[in-house]
Amino acid sequence: MLPKDEVIQGYSRYISRASHVTYAPIVPYKARNALVWDVEGREYIDFLSDAAVQNVGHNNPRVVEAVKKTAERLLHFTFIYGFPAEPYLLARKLSELAPVENAKVAFGLSGSDANDGAIKFARAYTGRRSVIGYLRSYYGSTYGAMSVTGLDFEVRSKVGQLSDVHFIPYPNCYRCPFGKEPGKCRMECLEYLKEKFEGEVHAEGVALLLAEPIQGDAGMVVPPEGYFRKLKRLLDEHGILLGVDEVQSGLGRTGRWFAIEHFGVEPDIITLAKPLGGGLPISAIVGRGEIMDSLPPLGHAFTLSGNPVASAAALAVIEEIEEKNLLQRAEKLGKKAKERLERMKKRHELIGDVRGLGLMLGVDLVKDRETKERAYDEAKKVVWRAYELGLIVAFLQGNVLRIQPPLTIEEELLEEGLDKLEEAIEDVEEGRVSDEVLEKVQGW
Ligand SMILES: Cc1ncc(COP(=O)(O)O)c(C=O)c1O
Repeated sequence: MLPKDEVIQGYSRYISRASHVTYAPIVPYKARNALVWDVEGREYIDFLSDAAVQNVGHNNPRVVEAVKKTAERLLHFTFIYGFPAEPYLLARKLSELAPVENAKVAFGLSGSDANDGAIKFARAYTGRRSVIGYLRSYYGSTYGAMSVTGLDFEVRSKVGQLSDVHFIPYPNCYRCPFGKEPGKCRMECLEYLKEKFEGEVHAEGVALLLAEPIQGDAGMVVPPEGYFRKLKRLLDEHGILLGVDEVQSGLGRTGRWFAIEHFGVEPDIITLAKPLGGGLPISAIVGRGEIMDSLPPLGHAFTLSGNPVASAAALAVIEEIEEKNLLQRAEKLGKKAKERLERMKKRHELIGDVRGLGLMLGVDLVKDRETKERAYDEAKKVVWRAYELGLIVAFLQGNVLRIQPPLTIEEELLEEGLDKLEEAIEDVEEGRVSDEVLEKVQGW
């Protein structure tokens, strides 16, 4: 086992800074369900699920078994040329599960490439070019996904982007971009899109609107009741496809197979990745059949996609969710965790808002509850102190704590993790965490 310091220093020497961001210096050695052990034998509760990957828990035995069995007999046979059975079985299963009519599937390796594919399929099917994305969204790192991402414009200013992309504000009721109060608005966020169609953007030239059903990296922003239904009606009036990015919110995370199911609309295209392979790289685009057949052969294909081992792992992930009733479990544990976080909010002024669905929760840290000024330094300190206490947690948008444990986390461990989180928050509020840690935590 390499010493921790050597690995961490090796990262800055040999790995591009473009592919990494530091929250806490953890060098993992092994993991099981919601627990991770580092190379020094320290134990951590993983409230991040490995960035929303481990919905069925780290090293889930069913997934590991499926991987081992398949790997022993067939590591790979490209499904571009041949017909391995596993990607077919997975495509059939995803088509059954997805709230998409007559669905067909294309596979890839990451959430980013799935979102690139969604743009390509939508453009090919509609014969239109424009795409609408959301401010503060994250769709990924490849050119297409990066171009519709509304989070980091610095990268695009350096490398350029796809053309014909437009951005609109997400319906964020805690920090309403239009300064409105929840329940006392005309959904100005939707009016904004209508106004865009009246001047800036030719609606009949728009191929796709790509939305996260809950905006993850924006800080777990849940749209208000009715938003997606009204949005879909507007899109339908203009023949615009609705693509939903379920890369973070999908596969049980929010208590439904797909988070969009909370909002009563059927999208045209769904993208999936992160938890799909239980830790192995696989992504899927699930769309209406005629949309998914609109590109010519090899119009969206990767040599290693549809890999039999990753597909078998994905089938095991789905089986695990079904057999262990993880949708209900996510809902039940999510409710419990949210209630506990709400109680913490009563005791800690630092917490401005608690939100989310199922086990996709965000805790918005603020300097002042009135102004809602984001508490950036405090968030860094909480994450660092949590790490010292043995809890893996991160922040988004600089100040929103990301709470996404595996759906399989033991109830006692969930409680223990929340105890550690509260202790970390208290230590920060009481000034027991020094400013020195601000240099150590990077985050984004
Ligand atoms: C909502 C969403 N979409 C897409 C992506 C990109 O996925 P990947 O990192 O697998 O390319 C992410 C990753 O954080 C995400 O959260």
